[in-house]
Amino acid sequence: MTRRYRSQDWFDNPDHIDMTALYLERFMNYGITPEELRSGKPIIGIAQSGSDISPCNRIHLDLAKRVRDGIRDAGGIPMEFPLHPIFENCRRPTAAIDRNLAYMGLVEILHGYPIDAVVLTTGCDKTTPSQLMAAATVDIPAIVLSGGPMLDGWLDGELVGSGAAIWKGRRRLAAGEIDNEKFLEIAAASAPSAGHCNTMGTASTMNAIAEALGMSLTGCSAIPAPYRERGQMAYETGRRIVALAEQDIRPSAILTRDAFLDAIVTNAAIGGSTNAQQHIMAMARHAGVEIHTEDWMKYGHDVPLLLNMQPSGKYLGERFHRAGGVPAVMWELEQKGKLRSQRLTVTGKTMAENLAGRETNDREMIWPFDAPLKEKAGFFVLSGNLFDFAIMKTSVISEDFRQRYLKQPGHEGVFECRAIVFDGSDDYHKRINDPSLNIDENCILVIRGAGPIGWPGSAEVVNMQPPDALIKRGINNLPTLGDGRQSGTSDSPSILNASPESAVGGGLAWIRTGDTIRIDLNNGTANMLVDDAEIERRKADGIPPVPPSQTPWQEIYRSTVGQMQSGACMELALEYRNVGAVLPRH
Ligand code: FES
Ligand code: MG
Repeated sequence: MTRRYRSQDWFDNPDHIDMTALYLERFMNYGITPEELRSGKPIIGIAQSGSDISPCNRIHLDLAKRVRDGIRDAGGIPMEFPLHPIFENCRRPTAAIDRNLAYMGLVEILHGYPIDAVVLTTGCDKTTPSQLMAAATVDIPAIVLSGGPMLDGWLDGELVGSGAAIWKGRRRLAAGEIDNEKFLEIAAASAPSAGHCNTMGTASTMNAIAEALGMSLTGCSAIPAPYRERGQMAYETGRRIVALAEQDIRPSAILTRDAFLDAIVTNAAIGGSTNAQQHIMAMARHAGVEIHTEDWMKYGHDVPLLLNMQPSGKYLGERFHRAGGVPAVMWELEQKGKLRSQRLTVTGKTMAENLAGRETNDREMIWPFDAPLKEKAGFFVLSGNLFDFAIMKTSVISEDFRQRYLKQPGHEGVFECRAIVFDGSDDYHKRINDPSLNIDENCILVIRGAGPIGWPGSAEVVNMQPPDALIKRGINNLPTLGDGRQSGTSDSPSILNASPESAVGGGLAWIRTGDTIRIDLNNGTANMLVDDAEIERRKADGIPPVPPSQTPWQEIYRSTVGQMQSGACMELALEYRNVGAVLPRH
């Protein structure tokens, strides 16, 4: 089947032969011929997310060779180009500020160059949503190739998961159980090979979600980066994108409301990262799909935890892959009618067809829907006078935490705490061990100035560790709350992503240390017990200041970003859709 591709407007345009000549000549620099470019075959972009400064995705530098093989074998012409790097652990002030930048850069490339379809190479946290957001905006055929998680980490005969090992290690450091050197040894052990985080952190979550949406081949996301199946998947993905180009199957046919609701359901069943909330919202909005705040509770909250993977469970990525990966989890959901699986995916088949026969043979890793690891594992949505919206990840609430805060006789699901308020993480680190704060188990740690505009970029800082003295007494978690995020690998039952944030005058701006906060999980509320007149009086003090922008992008980001409740999108970008259909002028 042949059709005229958008690239032919560059390479085969008799009305603009001078421009065509100009467009063609430089590609010969690396041995490509004008005949190839004018053959009418689709030009397939490979958005390369790997580089030396994005090590989680670096495997894609190798995988791209197999993607190219697949594209060539299926009759396409590959063209690889770089994506703005995003490295979660190293990018300061936070990698979150890069998601919208990589999004915007990819939109410009896909729109402005002769590219007919694209392979999105995903891995580290925001590399997945940024590219899917761009694919949704441009709406040319697109497919996700995950880089895959690292091999499982081991130390002293125990599994150590990336990220999760850091949060556990810093508690042990504070308790005086280990020294700095041991801490670094644990960190190194948790990351034993190429690949992204081997826990169900944000990286594995977002790759699982890409698969649940129907944007990658079946079983793609969980294959560990070094496994042979990963290279084979790269080849098959290269082959498949050519067929998608030929058939003009575009993201708009796949990224439907049904697909996003299934993503919400799947995210709960895998114990996915809280970062999924803003990324799912952002991808949906760029796809023109309405996902409402209520959808998280309505479709997600009742879903049980099925996957026994850190941080909600025990194991890591290799076992997840062997147990069948995302299709095996979705198979459980499908059997119980929890999915809307009669919908198209990049395989060209429906999700239901993709899932057929995918039952797991490892019941220690993927538990049955009727006898799950935990009931009601989806995000819990809260609101009140502190914020209009925040979420809590219930799948990580420990039994100890549950007993201490949520099971008080006569007050099931309700607790009141004294607020200790920090303005950003420097303030937290400076004062958390200050004895004059008298922090005890009746306190809730509050952080503000950590949202998209305040930080800028929304930082993973809400999972604040209690003071060392408390940890030494065995209290590993206090309730925490904030307008920032937390790492997907954290096991803290924090109240996160509070919107609107303090920096734009959200309720968190007006709370003071010593105020009482009442959390009511029965009614989904979180309030400071401060009367309205007093809150009005405090407004005269002004919004707590945030640091100035340090780069031009920080300033642009701040002036264009929305709140986390609605995906922290570049709001003005939402006006643009199906950008690939409108050719740029010569
Ligand atoms: Fe990049 Fe976890 S830090 S995947
Ligand atoms: Mg993270």
